[in-house]
Amino acid sequence: MDGQHDGPRREQIPAAISAQTEEFARRLATADPSRLAEAALATVGSLHALIAALRPTGEEFRIAIDFITEVGHYADSRRQEWVLLADVLGVSSLIEDQNSARPRGATPNTVAGPFYRADVPETALGASISRDGKGEPLAVTGRVAGFDGQPLAGAIVEVWQANAEGLYENQEPDLQPEFNLRGRFRTDPQGRFHFLSVKPKGYMLPADGPVGRLMAMLGISLERPAHIHFRVTANGFETLTTHVFDRSDPAIGRDAIFGVKPELMAEFRALPLNGGRRRHALDLNLVLCPERQGESAHAGRK
Ligand code: BEZ
Ligand code: FE
Repeated sequence: MDGQHDGPRREQIPAAISAQTEEFARRLATADPSRLAEAALATVGSLHALIAALRPTGEEFRIAIDFITEVGHYADSRRQEWVLLADVLGVSSLIEDQNSARPRGATPNTVAGPFYRADVPETALGASISRDGKGEPLAVTGRVAGFDGQPLAGAIVEVWQANAEGLYENQEPDLQPEFNLRGRFRTDPQGRFHFLSVKPKGYMLPADGPVGRLMAMLGISLERPAHIHFRVTANGFETLTTHVFDRSDPAIGRDAIFGVKPELMAEFRALPLNGGRRRHALDLNLVLCPERQGESAHAGRK
């Protein structure tokens, strides 16, 4: 909290929801103005408005407390149930949209998600990132360009994806080879890149914890349509973190984390059979936005 803000303003909360709302605002008025005080006032005002609208019973309040307690019990260094909750409520995606809005024509930014690894070695253009050879072959070709169409040579393109079973390498380290379906490439003088992979499968977010149980009770799907993640870094441009989705995936309209945008839906084209084996191709344009003055260096990162 940076203390640079003007502090809470009375008009930021709904008028006189309750005596408690008024009193909380009065107590805060004596504190030094800060971003924290602003957030506290807005949060408490919204909570009181929610309570006034829903009028929960004591038993319902206890159930809500039990739920958030259980979410906390499921969060540790290997599993972040709080982040999962933020994801399925659309909070992560909304914050990402607000913090890294790109001008029209630039590829939209999305969350990186929990499976990104920064330590993947660079490989030559054309290499295969399938280190176990399992799945239907997919040839990926792409171009990285600036906003005005200028090709970006020497840009770093990182890629990571789930396998044909919908699982990332770091979800099953004993079954998949290290760095399976992860790559790092450098674009050629025309801003192009290409590599071989396998067609990814969509997957479900973890359903075995309190967030999964809540979504089941609400009848909301935890599916993520098949996709490939990209992170593109180029000097003088905002880092782009995004994913590209298979537009034919039946779950395309119900992504559990609200990541699908029209510009991110692509065709995983079926190629003629090769010795009876199915093969696919994907062609992409990734458009970066020039670095803007005063923007956070971490915009678009999670
Ligand atoms: C992913 O696409 O890898 C992902 C993103 C956010 C939450 C869970 C998974
Ligand atoms: Fe993913």
